[in-house]
Amino acid sequence: MNTPRILGTPLSPSATRVMLLGSGELGKEVIIALQRLGVEVIAVDRYPNAPGHQVAHRAHVIDMTDGAALAALIEQEKPDLVVPEIEAIATDTLAELETAGRIACIPTARAAQLTMNREGIRRLAAEELGLATSPYRFASSLAELQAACAEIGFPCVVKPVMSSSGKGQSKLDSAADVENAWNYAAAGGRVDAGRVIVEGFIDFDYEITLLTVRATNGDGETATQFCEPIGHRQVHGDYVESWQPQPMSPRALEAAREIADKVTTNLGGRGVFGVELFVKGDMVWFSEVSPRPHDTGMVTMATQTQSEFELHAKAILGLPVNVALRSPGASAVIYGQLDEPGIAFEGVAEALRVPGADIRLFGKPESFARRRMGVALASADDIDSARARALEAAAKVKPVSGWK
Ligand SMILES: Nc1ncnc2c1ncn2[C@@H]1O[C@H](COP(=O)(O)OP(=O)(O)OP(=O)(O)O)[C@@H](O)[C@H]1O
Ligand SMILES: [Mg+2]
Repeated sequence: MNTPRILGTPLSPSATRVMLLGSGELGKEVIIALQRLGVEVIAVDRYPNAPGHQVAHRAHVIDMTDGAALAALIEQEKPDLVVPEIEAIATDTLAELETAGRIACIPTARAAQLTMNREGIRRLAAEELGLATSPYRFASSLAELQAACAEIGFPCVVKPVMSSSGKGQSKLDSAADVENAWNYAAAGGRVDAGRVIVEGFIDFDYEITLLTVRATNGDGETATQFCEPIGHRQVHGDYVESWQPQPMSPRALEAAREIADKVTTNLGGRGVFGVELFVKGDMVWFSEVSPRPHDTGMVTMATQTQSEFELHAKAILGLPVNVALRSPGASAVIYGQLDEPGIAFEGVAEALRVPGADIRLFGKPESFARRRMGVALASADDIDSARARALEAAAKVKPVSGWK
């Protein structure tokens, strides 16, 4: 890969330019980390004033699933690196531009292609790499889904092949639930609503994100490093709380690292990957992987010497990284609670009085009841105390109607 070997001065001919495709709360933090290294950053999203737009050198609003629009913007800005922050992108266009030597895509265009569709990454993990996963089938019609669910058995989980944050996802307890699940998936998927995965339900003890970093080892080669495992709690497929380090048995940790190493080595390139795994005793199942920082990894802003965003920024620039844990800690999501633009937040001062707590507000222009608008972070001597502090701090922040 074409990694910039020196760093320039932004807004000058020597600038090192990075384009973020997707500029939400995760992109915003990656951009801040890049800004600290004097990188010139171009933030792209599908709506104006996205969180990352507000901290970048230049901001663009385009439909990133439109390959022609994406190629035109890349041609105009000529970034040294193109960094996908979301899944819903014209990844085939990125692959064509990468093959033609016109862009360097993080970590690779192939990784972006495979992970934007559950079918791509699941077939790679289970069928090519032989990793343990839940049993699964794919279906493109209600009749196919009925047959697939009968084969997998109940309970099972149905998800659109293209969706994130639990959208269109349901747990089924019997054949009576199949039709509703199909309709719900069709409404909740993006881009192609016509295909779903059905997975056998894994009755795990806990689930983790294993942040895995592919970065230079100093000899010009790329080496794999692992952050401490992050435990998290999901409600309706969306993360509400995470903590680090999640205690694990030595055998489960070894199995988790082995899976993460195999899948990230196959995807290649440089950067942070969020490997999602289910754990029961010493057994570990691969669930999915993000070839970029992970939402549950926001906790690393409170726990690690270098947050997942700093790790990503450094790794993609070809710089060495430090994955050390600084302190146990936790994160808790702050939801919008209201459906309206330009909301305000009460209780931030009270939240900051919680010992060890800190707050991030993302600056999203419009709030929705279940939209993630901010996150509370906390460190403590142990994860139970950290979780209690993060939840307490998050609960003190109250979205209210905006005023002037
Ligand atoms: N087969 C399964 N067995 C048990 N629980 C599951 C299964 N699949 C998903 N879940 C639960 O639902 C959550 C969301 O699933 P998944 O990660 O596949 O969806 P997602 O929409 O991609 O979420 P995100 O993109 O936000 O990570 C998981 O973290 C897990 O808690
Ligand atoms: Mg997930």
